[in-house]
Amino acid sequence: MNEEFKGALDRLEAARAEGLDAVAATLSTAELENVRVQYTGKKSNVSQVTQVMGRLDADERKQLGAAVNAAKTELETALSKRQTELGRREQEQRFEHERVDVTLPGMPYPDGYRHPLLLSVREILGILGRMGYDVFEGPDVEWERYNFDLLNTPKHHPARDVQDTFWVGDEMVLRTQTSPAQIRYMKAHQPPIRAAMPGFCYRNEAEDASHADRFYQIEGLAVDTDIRLTDLKGTLTEICRVYFGEGRRVRFRPHYFPFTEPSAELDIECSVCHGTGCRSCGGEGWLELGGSGMVHPNVLRAVGYDPEKVSGFAFGIGPDRYTMMKYGITDLRLFREDDLRFIAQFN
Ligand code: DAH
Repeated sequence: MNEEFKGALDRLEAARAEGLDAVAATLSTAELENVRVQYTGKKSNVSQVTQVMGRLDADERKQLGAAVNAAKTELETALSKRQTELGRREQEQRFEHERVDVTLPGMPYPDGYRHPLLLSVREILGILGRMGYDVFEGPDVEWERYNFDLLNTPKHHPARDVQDTFWVGDEMVLRTQTSPAQIRYMKAHQPPIRAAMPGFCYRNEAEDASHADRFYQIEGLAVDTDIRLTDLKGTLTEICRVYFGEGRRVRFRPHYFPFTEPSAELDIECSVCHGTGCRSCGGEGWLELGGSGMVHPNVLRAVGYDPEKVSGFAFGIGPDRYTMMKYGITDLRLFREDDLRFIAQFN
């Protein structure tokens, strides 16, 4: 037998056996891929065996070719079997690694809290609701006419100056008060009426412990055939009694508003200093909670009511101030900092 032929068959057998051992020894599909290249690729020992072909006779060539093909097929079969085994094993490992234990307790998600101002607004609206008041919301961006003119405050009226107004174009404003909602409500309803109108108000003024450029108001309005100043006083006193509890001193102080006559401001004894004067009450000992008065006949006329037949009272109170005075909060600015440690205390 031709030595070269025999040598080639021996090398093929060695390469085949080595390849099968290598396949069996692989531990991962990545490793298997390397083995595939090394033992079945063009440069593999199995392929290299065919280099002697040119020096063999026809019969030997045929035999060697068949033997090489058989060895390759055997190696490929072993490779693909191993690929399946390793692939399955790797998938199992991945599943095990990614396994989720659905019986584990969940991650706790912190509860939210209601803002103390919102709590006060709800409480005051609740008190008014139990007195028979309807709740109505006007828009934050309001016609100048509604915010001023129809409230008996024409252009150049000095009362406009004390409300530093944010203008939105030529004819609209960010409402400086919730009072324009009175106009909207009266235009849409006939007496007798009782309405509470909550919402934010805006004034272009400097902030301090008891002033903000955006603050909340609750407007109240009652129009009927026989509404008197004593009804107003009784209503506002009752709101304070229920909201603050018994024994908090309140007072009415004469004041001026263009849309009411007579007018009064409502004060409460400062809960921080109990009347001696401090930063929270601006040294007064009392803190203003809102304005009020008997609806001016011009306002009633402006919405088509007859001031000879009906009368009314109105008020605009500040829940920010109520909240401060209820809980002894010394600075209004805390309401806008959104610090959960502050907000959480009221729930
Ligand atoms: N709108 C007034 C203000 O913001 C408060 C006010 C006073 C409202 C008297 C009223 C009222 O309804 O009758 O300063």
